Amino acid sequence: MKLLTGKTALITGAGRGIGRAIAEKFAQEGADVAITDIKIGADVEAFIEELTAKGVRAKAYVSNAADFSDAHKVVEEVVADFGSIDVLVNNAGITRDGLLLRMTEEQWDMVINVNLKSAFNLTHAVAPIMMKQRAGSIINMASVVGVSGNAGQANYAASKAGMIGLAKSTAKELGSRGIRANAIAPGFIITDMTGALSEEVKKQWAAQIPLRRGGLPEDVAGVAVFLASDLSAYVSGQVIHCCGGMNC
Ligand code: NAI
Repeated sequence: MKLLTGKTALITGAGRGIGRAIAEKFAQEGADVAITDIKIGADVEAFIEELTAKGVRAKAYVSNAADFSDAHKVVEEVVADFGSIDVLVNNAGITRDGLLLRMTEEQWDMVINVNLKSAFNLTHAVAPIMMKQRAGSIINMASVVGVSGNAGQANYAASKAGMIGLAKSTAKELGSRGIRANAIAPGFIITDMTGALSEEVKKQWAAQIPLRRGGLPEDVAGVAVFLASDLSAYVSGQVIHCCGGMNC
């Protein structure tokens, strides 16, 4: 049997990048997958067809994870379509970088809302369902900079530190109901998000990585499969770094 057979996963911000790689690996492992994104293009619909060709159920939903009522609405829709939610991956995220003193209130609010409030919104909506099932795994996409901090990313690093605090608190509050919550802290992963960085910054990152390469979305997806599956049945409240050894 595959690692995620019989489980339904909801992954936010999965139209591209790390979220999409997680959806693909989850489907390969037999999970039914519901993916959300703020925008769903024709490429995402084609991706859904690829997933269903693997013999699992898959559906994409347009939903703003940063909006409380939108998040609750999409969870209701997913439960109506799939019957349950066993795994929640809070993956949606953005950057609006800038030095602290030049950062606008809008830059701060956007990043905190999309990266952190979104995870509260989805966890708040999904927790009662998992509590009834007395089982569930919640995975928050944090970042190594949520642990170390990063000049020019005060808003982003604060949001990712918040994702770790949220996962640890959820693990403590809901563990007695059979719900696990963990965070993944990726390092430098090659996606559209990091594609926007200058060549200079990319070189600096690569030089700091013991494995001497940027990570792939699939590298992070492998950790997500572990945390979603029963292989990690006794793992909760943890932060797993996926950074090529950069932040040890
Ligand atoms: P990406 O930019 O390629 O993909 C993010 C996806 O989230 C996009 O499809 C976007 O449309 C969607 N999204 C944005 N706002 C949304 C909203 N309000 N509601 C729903 N969906 C929304 O980014 P990537 O690189 O795949 O990152 C995924 C997650 O991993 C993010 O949380 C990011 O902060 C985190 N991460 C990424 C790292 C990297 O090096 N790429 C490193 C550490 C963490």
